[in-house]
Amino acid sequence: MQEMIKNDLRYALSPVTFSRECLNVEPDPWQAEVMMRPAKRILLNCSRQSGKSTSSSIIALHQALYYPGSLILLISPSLRQSSELFKKVQSFYKMLPDRPKLPEDNKLSMALENGSRIVSLPSSEANIRGFSAVALVIEDEASRVADDLYRAVRPMLAVSAGKIMLMSTPWGKRGHFFEEWTGPNEWERIEIPATKCPRISPVFLAEEEKALGNWWFQQEYMCKFMETTDSLFSYDTIMAAMSDDVEPLFPALGTASQVTMPGLSDDVEPLFIGEK
Ligand SMILES: Nc1ncnc2c1ncn2[C@@H]1O[C@H](COP(=O)(O)OP(=O)(O)OP(=O)(O)O)[C@@H](O)[C@H]1O
Ligand SMILES: [Mg+2]
Repeated sequence: MQEMIKNDLRYALSPVTFSRECLNVEPDPWQAEVMMRPAKRILLNCSRQSGKSTSSSIIALHQALYYPGSLILLISPSLRQSSELFKKVQSFYKMLPDRPKLPEDNKLSMALENGSRIVSLPSSEANIRGFSAVALVIEDEASRVADDLYRAVRPMLAVSAGKIMLMSTPWGKRGHFFEEWTGPNEWERIEIPATKCPRISPVFLAEEEKALGNWWFQQEYMCKFMETTDSLFSYDTIMAAMSDDVEPLFPALGTASQVTMPGLSDDVEPLFIGEK
């Protein structure tokens, strides 16, 4: 009995020990670092297949088990991805030897006897209305999660002083994941290129670069926010045009702040009707 209580305390204090001893997953160094980080705002810019979904599921399960009454929201860009992510949580839960019965257990959510709940949501703002006092939000593949949803989720952390983690492979210079990664807001930013993942070999990476080409390789494996290939203007050109400290591109039109950027504002007629 004493041994059980001692172990429970060890698991409660360390998600890494919990993962190793209860789930049989030895966290990679970066996963261990993320699991132990006390920061309330964490951004993870990760390679494909680096272990984002695995760590999200373990972090969510640990919070639910050891912080009674926690509401945890897992957000993914699509229904298929949220079901996949939730299946990982369920399969880890089933590995626990003395797992308590679940008062609620379905395809996208589970409730524990200690009052905690894990809910996995697809990316739709309408679906998240009604949740409040959220203890932990994890966005998996955040670069593809709708910006509206991100904006709707943040206030839910206010009362609970909850934690938010955005984990993603980049997807171009757009959206809230890119903006937070490059912006001034306070976040712990962690970059995990494929070269830091012990399961991805240099030989495989060399093959991938050859097969996919450098553009895709940099985005998928090396954490780079690439320019979309069909953009009319590069991101840097647009940013330069919006700063008063930079020589205007078209001096005849005045300073940058006086130049309207069709396509960037909802109040301005789009340049290409139908593409807005
Ligand atoms: N610490 C670990 N030890 C052993 N295997 C791991 C570990 N972390 C992840 N894996 C395995 O690596 C593979 C990829 O993991 P996961 O799906 O979590 O990565 P991902 O970054 O979410 O991938 P994707 O970019 O495709 O969404 C899976 O087979 C998973 O079981
Ligand atoms: Mg994943």
